Order: sequence, then structure tokens, then C-alpha cells
Amino acid sequence: MLIAGCPGAIELAKRIARKVKSHYSNVEIGTFPDGETNLRFTRPVKGQHVILVQTMRPANENMMEAMFAAYTARDLGAKKVTLIAPYLAYMREDKRFHSGECISARVMARLLSAAFDRIITIDPHLHRFHKLSEIFSIPAARVTAAGIIGQYVKRNIRGAVIIGPDEESDQWAEEVAKVAKVPADVLTKTRYSSVHVEIHFRSGESYKRKHAVLVDDIISTGHTMMETIKQLKRMGVKRITCIGVHGLFTDDAYPKMKKMGVKIVTANTISHPTNGIDVSGLLKDALGRWS
Ligand code: R5P
Repeated sequence: MLIAGCPGAIELAKRIARKVKSHYSNVEIGTFPDGETNLRFTRPVKGQHVILVQTMRPANENMMEAMFAAYTARDLGAKKVTLIAPYLAYMREDKRFHSGECISARVMARLLSAAFDRIITIDPHLHRFHKLSEIFSIPAARVTAAGIIGQYVKRNIRGAVIIGPDEESDQWAEEVAKVAKVPADVLTKTRYSSVHVEIHFRSGESYKRKHAVLVDDIISTGHTMMETIKQLKRMGVKRITCIGVHGLFTDDAYPKMKKMGVKIVTANTISHPTNGIDVSGLLKDALGRWS
């Protein structure tokens, strides 16, 4: 087995390689003056089962790099090529929201299925699709970070109440709360646009004496978290931590959230200064289940 790290995921790829005691190769990626990609493995891949680690942010660029790497590995004689995509982009585009629109999740899955033998990912945004097998034609394993987030909460936060900011977050919120042995509450959200959301709390709920721990799969524009934080503050809640599995932090989401004076923690599925929860152990276990 050879773990190969693309530039977007080198640190995580090296951690996985150390944990599975496997050889490691960088995937060096250069750009020609016209913007085209040039790529090379720094170790021989012939006869190896190559595990390529590439996170899908930025989505298009990184997905293209992953596919170039997969076909190059095969061309160089790799026996099998598995993709570890700690963050899998395009999963939220799971239906035709407007007529004539692309269902991007399906296209992304079709492209990756053609290039790889198997895929492992962490907490993909499964909403209208319930299983990865609905869109991938190769074996696709989904690993959840809920357990290690629960352990993080248990170790680091006293008097926590887990808050899932919308109905879709119940799958993480309930599991995190179970592991941390604390209560959970799942709110409802109305989304008017990508930057305009409304969060609805159940009336009569009191979080005042609690440490509110907001848990969601993705922090993108940050509006879901920021709207929830605003309301918690209005209720007089003093201690707030936001935990996201995938910290995308588009535009100025991160400075804006930081300004609100809350603690922000993410998993290292996407490299970011907020990374505080390491998923390499989960990925090692997932590889073990498949070997
Ligand atoms: C959507 O339902 C997801 O679970 C997240 O709540 C959402 O992607 C967060 O997006 P944003 O940070 O832009 O509000």
C-alpha cells in the first residue's frame, strides 16, 4: 500500500501513512504558464495499491488533480487506486433546484467512479440521497466523525448542550450527544438564499446556564452558525462553541465568526487554523476494514 498526498491534503495523508505504517509519496503538482496541470508521483507506484488523499476544496481544481493522479497511477502500473476524499464536494447539489440545472452530485460521482476503484469519505452531505451507492458505481464508504467530536466535547467542555442548527444535523447532533453523554437539541432552519437563513428555536427552551455546542457537517458562508449564535446571545448564553466537520469558510466567514467571540473547532478534513479534531485514525480504521 502506498499513501499519496495531493497538495491540499499532505499533512493528513502523512498522518494516515504513519498510522498504517505504509510508504508515502507526494503528488507534486505544477502548473504550466497556460494554467494546465502537470503532476508526478515522487515514489514508484508500480504494483502498489495507491491510496490517494485529496480533499475537494477548492472543488473543481482538486477534483481534476485527483483524476489526473488516478489515471497517472494506473498508467505507471498501480494495482488499484483508492481515493480518500476527507471532504467530498458537490454533495449539496443533490437535485435540480431550477429547470435545466445540473445535478452536480451525480456528475461528480460519475467522474470519480470512472477514475478510482474505491472511495472513502467523511460525513458526506447525504440529504436527498441516503447512501453513496445511489450515486457511485464503485464501492464507496462513508465514515462519520460524530464519535470523535463527541469525545472532544466530553474531554474539553463542561455543561454542554449539543445544538444541531437544522433538521439535517440531527444525525451528528444525536450521536455527538450520545458519546459526550450530554443532552441534544435539533433546531429548524429556513433557507431563503445561500446567505440568508432563519433559525427557529423551540419556545421555552433555556440554555442560559449551559455551554452551547453547535454541531454541523459544513461551515460554508457561516450564516447557519452566525444566526444561531445571535439568537443564543439574545437568550443570554455566554459560552458558545461551534464545531464543524468540514470548515469551508467561504469569503470572510471565518473573521466574521471569530468577531462574534465564540470558539470555533473543525476536523482536519480541510486544512484550516481551526482544525482541532483529527480524522486520521478514522481513515486508518476505514482502510483496515477494506484490506
Ligand atoms: C446544510 O444543510 C448543511 O448541513 C449546513 O448547515 C450548511 O451547508 C451550512 O452552510 P452555511 O455555513 O453557508 O450556512
